[in-house]
Amino acid sequence: MTNPVAIQNYDGIAVLLVDNPPVNALAKSVRQGLRDGMREILDDPAYVAAVIACAGRTFVSGADIHEFDLPMEGVGIDEINTLFENRSKPVIAAIHGVALGGGLEIAMGCHFRIATKDAKLGQPEVKLGLIPGGGGTQRLPRAIGPARAVELIVSGEPILAVEGLKLGLIDEIFEGDPIAAGVAFARRVLSESRAFRSLRDDDSKLASTRADRNLLTEAVNNAVKRDSGMDAPRACVEAIGWSLNVPFDEAIRRERELFLALKDGEQSKALRHVFFAERNSSKVASITSHVRPRAVNTVAVIGAGTMGGGIAQSFANAGIPVRLVEVTEEALDKGLATIRKGYDSTVARGGLSAEEAARRAGLISGAVGLERVEDADLIVEAVFETMQIKEDVFSRLSSIAKPGAILATNTSYLDVNVIAAATYRAQDVVGLHFFSPANIMRLCEIVRGKETAPDVLATAIAVARRIAKVPVVVGVCHGFVGNRMLSVSIAQARKLLLEGALPQQIDAVANKFGMMGPFAMGDLAGLDIGWRSRKDSGERLPIEDALCEAGRFGQKSGAGFYRYNQGSRTPIPDPEVEALIVETSRGLNIGRRDIEDAEIHERLTYPMINEGARILEEGIVERASDIDLVWLYGYGWPRQTGGPMFWADQTGLAIVANRLAYMAAIDRDTTLRPAPRLARLAFGGGTFGSLK
Ligand code: COA
Ligand code: NAD
Repeated sequence: MTNPVAIQNYDGIAVLLVDNPPVNALAKSVRQGLRDGMREILDDPAYVAAVIACAGRTFVSGADIHEFDLPMEGVGIDEINTLFENRSKPVIAAIHGVALGGGLEIAMGCHFRIATKDAKLGQPEVKLGLIPGGGGTQRLPRAIGPARAVELIVSGEPILAVEGLKLGLIDEIFEGDPIAAGVAFARRVLSESRAFRSLRDDDSKLASTRADRNLLTEAVNNAVKRDSGMDAPRACVEAIGWSLNVPFDEAIRRERELFLALKDGEQSKALRHVFFAERNSSKVASITSHVRPRAVNTVAVIGAGTMGGGIAQSFANAGIPVRLVEVTEEALDKGLATIRKGYDSTVARGGLSAEEAARRAGLISGAVGLERVEDADLIVEAVFETMQIKEDVFSRLSSIAKPGAILATNTSYLDVNVIAAATYRAQDVVGLHFFSPANIMRLCEIVRGKETAPDVLATAIAVARRIAKVPVVVGVCHGFVGNRMLSVSIAQARKLLLEGALPQQIDAVANKFGMMGPFAMGDLAGLDIGWRSRKDSGERLPIEDALCEAGRFGQKSGAGFYRYNQGSRTPIPDPEVEALIVETSRGLNIGRRDIEDAEIHERLTYPMINEGARILEEGIVERASDIDLVWLYGYGWPRQTGGPMFWADQTGLAIVANRLAYMAAIDRDTTLRPAPRLARLAFGGGTFGSLK
């Protein structure tokens, strides 16, 4: 294997150049190269200073996350930093791109840090369920003060180098080539005989907090506001606290110990799975390297209702001009007013400046009449969920939209192939299934019709990423991935009500797991939508129908499965609902019993996993981790469990399959029998994650 770290000699200034594409992760070979290179530089009197710089698009982006699943071996960051912190030769980090995690930790081991002004610096380990494990919890507080360090490390969000300069993390901003800038800076340090000392020896920014620990309280309270169910944020705070009262070397030892414990824990494994799942979801077999996405410069959204307005905002927020098209002036005005109100309230909450909100709102124009979409590169339809209306819209779009324009539907359930067949350009048709509220929710299911062209699919993925969504490509089936799996879980929730549980008990079980409960969710979405469509189809759901007949539509009417005090969204259990449920069970001759929380949890989740196995078997998604993303970004599945399919793997597929077989037998419900894909994996000792 070639050494990814080379020494280049610039007239006595040694440049340790890291070249480990694509993002210069700190793999074992890089750590070894840095240590050996630095030893050589320190031993060789020909070198008077060292510059650490990187080839390619970025400085070191952090530890190599792949290695976290292997036993930790090789050179540690601490060993490298101990060499960097030598007292004989100055060491300078020249940063471009990002310096994240171990990258920033290596840079903080240097005596000086210079960076391009748009470089990003951060400790994102918390997002992987970790604390910084290479000295970050001890050196960052010394560089920028403990309160700011808490903010940065617990949020995991990077800062720009210009802010780093203000905070004292960066010594100077440069433009252009990092090597040239690093070498020039090193020469100045030498010619000016600048003193250099390492952060480990500089406690000046700790002094005031050491004298008054209360100075940290506000930062900690702000950073760890609510219990997210994650262990890492509090672990970060604990480790940063050691910078105040534990000797440096001992604190580094403790930091390492805590890092390793978290790394081997379930939460970090799950979060690492999510990291790679997010990156893999764009990899689609039919999109080969020669497929080029189409250009999307202007967008039209048809329908200015709940979804259309949110979708339009998503594009405008990413700087893409969008035209909102309606059937009447009145509907258009209402839609545009709702959007303006949304931006105003974001400004009032401090989420956006008034100028930025005005700029975004200014990118959204309105028009009446379908023909006004004629110049758009991408058209997203968000009209009523009725096949006849969608077919009408698409058949007209077929000739109105310019050649090559992409025709997307936001349908939740309707068959995208049937919609495409209403056009004479089915290759241009794709589903873009956003979730409500569309300007906030990050999931976008990209529905591939049987004739969708590969470049259309590639464009849909690229556009979704551009507007900060998480794209997941799915095939055509009823409810696609998310709503299809949700419906089997909700069916169990309804049965549990009839068998003896109450909404508050079922919701509490979901809440304990980290999700919103199905009944609180129903009240939020509005119970009347399903009720109206059931009236058309003749389907009956005794409890929901009775609630709606009593005018209990959910939060919007102040009562649903729960009651709500005026202006409040807090669900309050309602004895009237309990009486209704008990009465319904009696009417259906179902004996009520005490149901344990564990059974509720299994019944809400295992049938979903089974449906996920069917979805995989049918090839609706390419990989199990795509299903995980749907649930993490569309339905609030707790991130620290990695998504339903990863969670099922961790739980043990044999356990899941056996329980499903038991439920199927008790319930005489064949749909609950383990799906063939699940059964094969369970009894063969496999996992969803191992399917490729
Ligand atoms: N370890 C291993 N692989 C990494 C990596 C890391 N720290 N960071 C990125 N990669 C890989 C990605 O998996 C991806 O691989 P793929 O092309 O096979 O899918 C590739 O590098 C490019 O990453 P991507 O995120 O798509 O590129 P980007 O330009 O959008 O973003 C970064 C680059 C570095 C900002 C981003 O990848 C990132 O935030 N990485 C993680 C940083 C981190 O958490 N470091 C601390 C680790 S403890
Ligand atoms: P909505 O009733 O709030 O809005 C629909 C809008 O479309 C209305 O303003 C209506 O005037 C307009 N419209 C109807 N026919 C039109 C036409 N021919 N040309 C232009 N405009 C027309 O509905 P919604 O909740 O925004 O749902 C829209 C679509 O999004 C549906 O397909 C729905 O299934 C889907 N969807 C909804 C949600 C959700 O939670 N609401 C989530 C995901 C997807």
